[in-house]
Amino acid sequence: MKNILVTGSYGQLGNEIRCLVPQFSDFHFIFTDVDSLNISDFEKLNNFFEKQKIHFVINCAAYTAVDKCETDFDNAMKINYLSVKYLAELSKTFSFRLIHISTDYVFDGKSCVPYKESDATNPLSKYGISKLEGEKAVWQESENFLILRTSWLYSSFGNNFLKTILRVSKEKNELKVVFDQIGTPTFAADLAFAILKILTFNTSETGIFHFSNEGVCSWYDFATEILKFSHSNCKILPIETKDYPTPAVRPTFSVFNKSKIKEIFNFSIPHWRESLEKCIKLL
Ligand SMILES: NC(=O)c1ccc[n+]([C@@H]2O[C@H](COP(=O)([O-])OP(=O)(O)OC[C@H]3O[C@@H](n4cnc5c(N)ncnc54)[C@H](OP(=O)(O)O)[C@@H]3O)[C@@H](O)[C@H]2O)c1
Repeated sequence: MKNILVTGSYGQLGNEIRCLVPQFSDFHFIFTDVDSLNISDFEKLNNFFEKQKIHFVINCAAYTAVDKCETDFDNAMKINYLSVKYLAELSKTFSFRLIHISTDYVFDGKSCVPYKESDATNPLSKYGISKLEGEKAVWQESENFLILRTSWLYSSFGNNFLKTILRVSKEKNELKVVFDQIGTPTFAADLAFAILKILTFNTSETGIFHFSNEGVCSWYDFATEILKFSHSNCKILPIETKDYPTPAVRPTFSVFNKSKIKEIFNFSIPHWRESLEKCIKLL
């Protein structure tokens, strides 16, 4: 039986992995979070791996408050870069495979065709910079890894755009949402399933992979569908990013080309609307 350590497991992705445990009975899961295993503490990590043989680490731990990263960059770097470097170093020492999660915010959004894994990165925000540094640390320190970049993650767990729209639509008759940032929502349950499916392949494939749901939309389209599926009467108005300033600059276009992951692992990925409907039914 293979032992899988899931770090940051009380976040969106970690919780979705927990829900899939019964479907992957060939794996033994160890779920930790900042209180039980702070990934910024090298000694604790080292002791953990000394005591327990781990075959795979799925690193779901991250500093994900994108706007807060602009003013709290040191902490963002500590979690999104330095701690990831520790895990990457330890993957060599203790011979485990590191599955690390990264983001579409490593791109500047200037492309007009979906981003491939090999496309040049150029983050616009401190969050994007810290996540890109984490990716580089994995490349430099680990010999056995996968970096899965994902975008616009949501789930029935934690805080996310879906839950914000559902909450605010109950409080207001009208909502304004940007229509000039284009990407693809990703149901964290679909990403969790893809990760565990990859681990069953027993491949030594190393590198970056892009994963999101299928299809393309703006945040305005996403919000419109959320309200449609939740039978809300709240009205959504499209606005430009310039009329909704945020501390962190987001890419205007961050759609992924997912051919690589689909071809290598023979995946069929659900459309974002189909997964959104599924998630809303769970809520
Ligand atoms: N959310 C998105 O829209 C999005 C988009 C693209 C990529 N991603 C990436 O996808 C991955 C999963 O994101 P998510 O949305 O599931 O994140 P999340 O819900 O914010 O969960 C992250 C978890 O990591 C924990 N954590 C923070 N610092 C830690 C530390 N030092 N040691 C151990 N655990 C720590 C957090 O605990 P606390 O809550 O107590 O801090 C939280 O439980 C991340 O790598 C993220 O960068 C996310």
